[in-house]
Amino acid sequence: MQIIILKNQEQVAKNAANWIIELLSKRTHPTLGLATGSTPINLYQELVKNYQQNKLDFSNVTTFNLDEYHNIAPDNAQSYRTFMKDNLFDFININQENTHLPTCNNEQNPRGQGLAYEEKIKQAGGIDLQILGIGANGHIGFNEPTSSLSSRTRLKTLTEQTLVDNSRLFNTDEHQPTMAMTMGIATILDAKFVILMATGKNKAKAVKDMITGPITAMCPASSLQLHEHAIIIIDEDAASELPNQQYFIRVDKEHQKIRNKYGLFV
Ligand code: PGA
Repeated sequence: MQIIILKNQEQVAKNAANWIIELLSKRTHPTLGLATGSTPINLYQELVKNYQQNKLDFSNVTTFNLDEYHNIAPDNAQSYRTFMKDNLFDFININQENTHLPTCNNEQNPRGQGLAYEEKIKQAGGIDLQILGIGANGHIGFNEPTSSLSSRTRLKTLTEQTLVDNSRLFNTDEHQPTMAMTMGIATILDAKFVILMATGKNKAKAVKDMITGPITAMCPASSLQLHEHAIIIIDEDAASELPNQQYFIRVDKEHQKIRNKYGLFV
């Protein structure tokens, strides 16, 4: 794991954006894995800003989102399709037909939908760079604690903690879905590069468990220890429970020299 500790969430967003900017400049048909939630909003703002300054071209980009609520209409205000449109897709020159989310309604078989999503990712040549947040309970995507480390895109029942954490985003008269389709842990581990962003003290324990804890289904993010190219970009608050911080900072300084010389994706 490459651990990058930065001052605040603005720096985290800028740093993560730099990886995407470099990927898009290097690949003719890049495939991005995207995430929803509060954490990547600043990242998407950075990307929109760079696009508006003519520094980014999304016309050949294909995207796959990590997850989507079960049985939710795409135009529902709470759908992750709406989130992506409102925060990114509607402000850049991406072909919306190349933007994918793992959907499933009541009339569809979740297993068939999951398999079809996996196949679509394969057809696109796999995901070059997957963006991730982390739940306070260590989840990535909606892979809640107890998720199989070999899981693929499927329907998951959300935990009480996730429902409580996300209830802030719902008005009292709005229905909060309790299930979601999500890429599995194995799907995420297949991405060529993975960037996990985390900010704020409420993520500090999950970040510590992800980096220094045992690899366990009880902390799905700990599975990233098995990834060859997992980049963890966090602010000082999210890093606050991490032991050996000085070591991680020293390692990153050395990595920085290599990145400056050879580019980010080495
Ligand atoms: P958040 O969610 O960015 O809204 O904190 C992260 C996640 O649950 O993966």
